[in-house]
Amino acid sequence: MAAVETERIGRVCAAICLLSVCSLCTGHTRDRQVLIELNPGSPSPPPGDLLHARAVGDNDTLHFLFCSQGAPTLLLVHTNTSFSTVKVNWAQFNDRNHSGGLTVEPESSVLYSTAVVFNRLLEYDDINDTADPTSDLFPPYDLQDFRWSRLNLSGLTALLCGNTAASSNGSLCLQLSLFETEGRGQHWPRLLHTANSSQLRVWLDGVLPRATRSRFLLELQSVGGASPLNRVEVHRSIDDEFTPSIFKVSQWISALNDSSDVLGFVQWKPVAYRQADPALEDAAPCRHSEPRPQSGEAVAAVSGLIRAFYKEPEATGLNVSFGLAGEPFYNSTKFLSWTLLVGVGSPPVDSFSPLVIGMMAVGLGTPMILLLLGGICVCTRKRAVATAYEPIN
Ligand SMILES: *[C@@H]1O[C@H](CO)[C@@H](O)[C@H](O)[C@H]1NC(C)=O
Ligand SMILES: *[C@@H]1O[C@H](CO)[C@@H](O)[C@H](O)[C@H]1NC(C)=O
Ligand SMILES: *[C@@H]1O[C@H](CO)[C@@H](O)[C@H](O)[C@H]1NC(C)=O
Ligand SMILES: *[C@@H]1O[C@H](CO)[C@@H](O)[C@H](O)[C@H]1NC(C)=O
Ligand SMILES: *[C@@H]1O[C@H](CO)[C@@H](O)[C@H](O)[C@H]1NC(C)=O
Ligand SMILES: *[C@@H]1O[C@H](CO)[C@@H](O)[C@H](O)[C@H]1NC(C)=O
Ligand SMILES: *[C@@H]1O[C@H](CO)[C@@H](O)[C@H](O)[C@H]1NC(C)=O
Ligand SMILES: *[C@@H]1O[C@H](CO)[C@@H](O)[C@H](O)[C@H]1NC(C)=O
Ligand SMILES: *[C@@H]1O[C@H](CO)[C@@H](O)[C@H](O)[C@H]1NC(C)=O
Ligand SMILES: *[C@@H]1O[C@H](CO)[C@@H](O)[C@H](O)[C@H]1NC(C)=O
Repeated sequence: MAAVETERIGRVCAAICLLSVCSLCTGHTRDRQVLIELNPGSPSPPPGDLLHARAVGDNDTLHFLFCSQGAPTLLLVHTNTSFSTVKVNWAQFNDRNHSGGLTVEPESSVLYSTAVVFNRLLEYDDINDTADPTSDLFPPYDLQDFRWSRLNLSGLTALLCGNTAASSNGSLCLQLSLFETEGRGQHWPRLLHTANSSQLRVWLDGVLPRATRSRFLLELQSVGGASPLNRVEVHRSIDDEFTPSIFKVSQWISALNDSSDVLGFVQWKPVAYRQADPALEDAAPCRHSEPRPQSGEAVAAVSGLIRAFYKEPEATGLNVSFGLAGEPFYNSTKFLSWTLLVGVGSPPVDSFSPLVIGMMAVGLGTPMILLLLGGICVCTRKRAVATAYEPIN
């Protein structure tokens, strides 16, 4: 009886040991500790929520700020100490007419900052199915005029949804996810992230199209103190396992002239999905326009967070359009979701996954072995033939 018990305990222990060894090998230790607070120090709920996440590393802190006062905005501030803090002067912040309503202290610790503003949703009538987003535009939806919900926090994610009278029952939602370690998103396109980045999933759900053949585009603006994101690079992405059928990754980066050092980035795969739980045929390829300089003052006017943090914002902007000629129109599902990563430093680079390496090993290895065996066979046969026929002279 006792022997059985000890054996059972032994087995359980062995299983636990195995599990912990496994988690040591596969799991990562935490790279940053993320602490979230909503409307820090606000005496009463402000007109639009402000989320502040401190992602504290060994010797630095990344502050993520996400706000729905005006157009939804995500601001990242990287500091070189682990004790920097965010101060909000709520009276000034809510007035939205001075800079300095939000500061990161000590100010001398700030290394870099970048922000992304979701400015407008545009819709056009693609009568001839050419997917040309410059003609037959409907009046744009200014996202600063949307009625935004309170932020719905759960764990390290925050959900913000909004609509207008014109978009009736449908809504535009943004889901922000923060990370303490490296990993991948749960949903397609399953972007690779690190603790130096955050992910935003943007989706349109049930917004009524104004034409049967409507397609949509989203106008984004990037803001920085000295160097906003200024160019888009498109790289080939080899790994098809996580984002089926998409072989490219686009990154909008801020780089100094000699280009090797990337300060900040917005990264995405050029694909949106027409279903919340998509199958391969629900993928809608997307395109971007070239970044163009924008008026910093105009961006500060639409975004409370930009107004409060930047004294002299520099801005650039681009459009991302969803769907190509010949693809189903928005009307087919009335749903569209797109995912992007916003971070500091160099964007994550996909490498071959173990599955792909395994497949390559099988795919390349088997022919190699066959070739090798074939070669040996041919050699020995040749020898045999050579010895069988004596030269005639
Ligand atoms: C953090 O700073 C301390 C002292 O400046 C240094 O000893 C340590 O190596 C640094 N850690 C990392 C991860 O950079
Ligand atoms: C900002 O707006 C508030 C009221 O909204 C007003 O009282 C204040 O004078 C304005 N300040 C500036 C600098 O325009
Ligand atoms: C942080 O940066 C500031 C200015 O860039 C510098 O004066 C300060 O020494 C730095 N602190 C650390 C701990 O590196
Ligand atoms: C659509 O095609 C028709 C006929 O070819 C043409 O007259 C019209 O200008 C086109 N419209 C657009 C928006 O391209
Ligand atoms: C908040 O989000 C959770 C899950 O993300 C969801 O179940 C819940 O219904 C949401 N609450 C509101 C008020 O939207
Ligand atoms: C909005 O939804 C309500 C109930 O779900 C429905 O009765 C109404 O017709 C919808 N309005 C529009 C414009 O679709
Ligand atoms: C994240 O940023 C810190 C500070 O710049 C850097 O030391 C670290 O290597 C970065 N981590 C990744 C995974 O890029
Ligand atoms: C960057 O390059 C432009 C021209 O290509 C030059 O005018 C500018 O001075 C350079 N800036 C720096 C910081 O090197
Ligand atoms: C986005 O597209 C619209 C419509 O074509 C255009 O008016 C706007 O200037 C574009 N925005 C940017 C940043 O290129
Ligand atoms: C597209 O919209 C029209 C009305 O605008 C509707 O009659 C039609 O059924 C819709 N098509 C699909 C596939 O939903």
